[in-house]
Amino acid sequence: MCGIVGVLGREPAAPLLLDALKRLEYRGYDSAGIATLGAGGHVERRRAAGKLRNLEKVLDGDPMIGTAGIGHTRWATHGAPTEANAHPHVAGRVAVVHNGIIENYRALRDELVASGARIESDTDTEIIAHLLNGALDRGLAPEAAVRTVLGKLQGAYALAIVFEGEDDLIAAARVGSPLAIGLAEDGTYLGSDAIALAPFADRLIYLEEGDWALLSRGGVRIFDETGAETRREDTPTPASISLAEKGNYRHFMAKEIHEQPAVLGHTFGNYVDLSEETVRFDEAASIDFRGAQRIAMSACGTAYYAGLIGRYWLEKLARIPVDIDIASEFRYRETPLAPGNPALFISQSGETADTLASLRYCKAGGQTIASIVNVPTSSIARESDVVMPTLAGPEIGVASTKAFTCQLAVLASLAVHAAQARGTLGPDALKAAVRALAETPGYVADALRQEAEIERIARDLSHAKNALYLGRGTSFPLALEGALKLKEISYIHAEGYAAGELKHGPIALIDEEMPVVVVAPHDAVFEKVASNIQEVAARGGRIILITDERGANEAGSDAHETIVMPTVPELVAPIVHAVPVQLLAYHAAVFNGTDVDQPRNLAKSVTVE
Ligand code: AGP
Repeated sequence: MCGIVGVLGREPAAPLLLDALKRLEYRGYDSAGIATLGAGGHVERRRAAGKLRNLEKVLDGDPMIGTAGIGHTRWATHGAPTEANAHPHVAGRVAVVHNGIIENYRALRDELVASGARIESDTDTEIIAHLLNGALDRGLAPEAAVRTVLGKLQGAYALAIVFEGEDDLIAAARVGSPLAIGLAEDGTYLGSDAIALAPFADRLIYLEEGDWALLSRGGVRIFDETGAETRREDTPTPASISLAEKGNYRHFMAKEIHEQPAVLGHTFGNYVDLSEETVRFDEAASIDFRGAQRIAMSACGTAYYAGLIGRYWLEKLARIPVDIDIASEFRYRETPLAPGNPALFISQSGETADTLASLRYCKAGGQTIASIVNVPTSSIARESDVVMPTLAGPEIGVASTKAFTCQLAVLASLAVHAAQARGTLGPDALKAAVRALAETPGYVADALRQEAEIERIARDLSHAKNALYLGRGTSFPLALEGALKLKEISYIHAEGYAAGELKHGPIALIDEEMPVVVVAPHDAVFEKVASNIQEVAARGGRIILITDERGANEAGSDAHETIVMPTVPELVAPIVHAVPVQLLAYHAAVFNGTDVDQPRNLAKSVTVE
């Protein structure tokens, strides 16, 4: 959840580093900095707290000439987001940028302080710079210094390092945090992900777990975790990786909400064969759904809510028990795992540390590892036996929207596939399900047409201090997702709840000041939700009902506002009703003037546990 970049080129590196950092800013934006090797090969550094534009102002006033350099945009883990804690960190002849957490940094720092080192920041990263500089002072060459110091570090790190006087060298290393190398005629580049390298690199190399590397303008030498020199495959830079532009939209999030009909079409198109009235999961051929006794599932945040909805589908359609938990809790439960069962991990970035750690727990437990990811080259994808991609394209807005609905598209298709494999879905039901899936992009386009009405309702919601979101069945996880969306971009406290749970306590919160968003398509549980709506209305609660025409006719009179969605098959209602949930949060945030694409304290990919 920080972004690191490196440039070994023939023109001043600072503008290229800044450009690359802009493409990584979604990974963290508390502070930023750049180090280059200036006149005489001396390390020069510029840093600024806050958004990247603050660093840009510093550079405008105090440009840097070096053609070799490293850069960093930060999501604070150790130390407040101040300039003093901003990367790069420098000690003597060494500058370092780092994404990750060094778990033994306190012991290392104590050793350094005891030997007289002067530590300037509160970060774990600065310790690495001191260790490397100490190795140089003992007469080691940079390569030997890197080899020695890496052996002392415990934890997760993606590193880029420059050394005074070494104008054709950047050292890099990765354990637990992603790192890509870009190759081009005019130089060699480094980035936390390929999006940063898109405009520079013709070819990409993804470092493997434990790899470290020495970059020069002529290429790269790669060493594996044993220290042996090795080779890693290089691949052409995919055209799709070119930076998503906002186009005519005010925010990436708005663009990505409106991209959903198109990217859902791509995603369903990858799994649904309408002509044969079936779903195709060639990728999942190695998953034994017929023999599986249960599926373990784990994810974080919005991806976890997608998994919760997927559980309803897998259990109802394929009659297979699902054990799902948030990744930060899952492996600490030490849940018993019967070898040979499938374990499913959902992640937009494919780099979320908690989810990756749960995957490794299940791999050690003999599970068949399957992942639903939006980045097929990500760490989670690379450690999976089966990868089922969402085809959402790069998602830049920190709040996940199109990736969420594409995750649901894969999960719904997978549930139908598993039902087919287990013979739990008759031919007519299968045809109906496949048609519903295929028609969903059109339903979502219809849902988007309600935006103006939703924006009007969101203005009122934006004044709230708290909000409740309610749902039953597959609408319950959607209520959780709606509450998360509102919280994370408008900073309004919101809580998602099972509608049936309201009377067991939370109903005490209901008064005229508490907006209650109820997600309730007219499905099998609608009557129950209608009763919950009356319970809320009877206590003066201000209900925003998200439903369809039939639901509006039956329960709209109890609601302060009603958002009417197209009438859709029950199976795909969560995908369609995600749209008003997203738009409510988006417009409330816009009215509140928050930074919609880069909300405070957040990062797009949380690569620390
Ligand atoms: C989504 O709106 C959130 N920003 C966040 O909860 C996110 O879903 C979570 O961090 C998981 O990320 P991943 O899908 O990349 O693993």
